[in-house]
Amino acid sequence: MKNIVILISGRGSNMEAIVHACASEGWNARIAAVVSNRPEAAGLGFAKERGIATAVVDHKAYSGREVFDAELARVIEGFEPDVLVLAGFMRILSPGFVQRFAGRMVNVHPSLLPAFTGLHTHRRAIEAGCKVAGATVHLVTAELDHGPIIVQAAVPVLPGDDEATLAARVLSREHVIYPRAVRWLVEGVLREEGGVVTHTGGESQLLA
Ligand code: GAR
Repeated sequence: MKNIVILISGRGSNMEAIVHACASEGWNARIAAVVSNRPEAAGLGFAKERGIATAVVDHKAYSGREVFDAELARVIEGFEPDVLVLAGFMRILSPGFVQRFAGRMVNVHPSLLPAFTGLHTHRRAIEAGCKVAGATVHLVTAELDHGPIIVQAAVPVLPGDDEATLAARVLSREHVIYPRAVRWLVEGVLREEGGVVTHTGGESQLLA
């Protein structure tokens, strides 16, 4: 039975999707904990209602990134994670933290990486006149919103879209591809070579 630890900063809808999929698909895994850097993160309530262990490491209580990351790592290690899931976790992690969890830490980003790293991805996609947008689940490396791509979902950018409508369309796909990627990690069916991740069983890594 593998331990999944999920880091959130806010709403936690991707965390919810992973919790549901783990239970309904009978993964050989359990959600060992949901950890937030913000005490007011709405997703903590959902986790508590489900009887999932929660923890808060409030970044505001620490003098800098290194000390915050050290405490975050200590708390996470207490739950013995096999898979560490960043689900709307809005803190940049130090290289030491990333190294510690390398190969077992994943992130979802609301764009078709390597396009639109960083913030305001949907607004930037619309302003750039993109006809397609999407989301990416990737292994976390030290460079922000980079790292080997596990799965991507593509959605159309429709005439009249604004940031909110496009974000909603993309988010609904995140809820499909993120649980899928985490299940693959639990199953150990991914291979990474030269920065490219392949599913050894040939499952599609594109949702379009
Ligand atoms: C998601 O859209 C996720 O892709 C994004 O934050 C949202 C969190 O929603 N993450 C990033 O922008 C990370 N760079 P959620 O809390 O409801 O899962």
